[in-house]
Amino acid sequence: MGNGRRPLVAGNWKMHGSRAENTALLEALLARLNRVSAEVLVCAPFVYVSEIATRLAGTQMAVGAQSLCAEPVGAFTGEVSAAMLQDIGCKYVLVGHSERRSLFHEDNGLVARKFVAAQSKGLVPVLCVGESLAERQSEQTFAVIREQLDAVLAAAGIAPFAQAVVAYEPVWAIGTGLTATPEQAQEVHAFIRGHLAKQDATVAAGVRILYGGSVKGSNAGELFAMADVDGGLVGGASLKADEFLQICAVAHS
Ligand code: PGA
Repeated sequence: MGNGRRPLVAGNWKMHGSRAENTALLEALLARLNRVSAEVLVCAPFVYVSEIATRLAGTQMAVGAQSLCAEPVGAFTGEVSAAMLQDIGCKYVLVGHSERRSLFHEDNGLVARKFVAAQSKGLVPVLCVGESLAERQSEQTFAVIREQLDAVLAAAGIAPFAQAVVAYEPVWAIGTGLTATPEQAQEVHAFIRGHLAKQDATVAAGVRILYGGSVKGSNAGELFAMADVDGGLVGGASLKADEFLQICAVAHS
């Protein structure tokens, strides 16, 4: 960091929490966030987003959703549209999280359409990319990430990246306790920024690229110190107020 990009720390609660637990966690965070210079975001399950948006209005925290429907409106039982999220005060939405890709069969084309849907309603998409362990071991990391980015670039162009966030989450590091080393993260973050820069250097220089995958209080500082790491997308550790605050506190420009 240290480049004019305001750091962002995003919690991904996944399918965890209850009204009571969310309230306790948010109040604990809000009580101590005034010492944090980073922008802070929590991505909650759909059913809680509205209530959290109301609570967080006027605070330094924002709320995001964890997915959305690629279609704008219609007969899509069980789905939630970008317009609905925008309507309830949601600011951000994760797009293409590896669990959506692997467990819910979201391919690069669908992820790209979701990115476009989010962006068309003024939501900030947090585009998640990353390679599996097998892909890393067979030295396909850059090829996989290039394909993930190119699908979105083909659908959306480069301009919307001025209002988007990218999250590099190596699949092998998510929820496993294995974290990319700061050097491994930096190498991929620089690749992502460089790839976007081929389309527009100014947009690429401004886009925030988060690292995700077993970020904890104990490793966030060294990861966030890397030049192209602009904060984190935090799963498990975002459910514990102390741990999450520790991570937020080390994210400064
Ligand atoms: P983790 O999850 O921090 O628990 O590894 C990160 C994520 O899935 O976004």
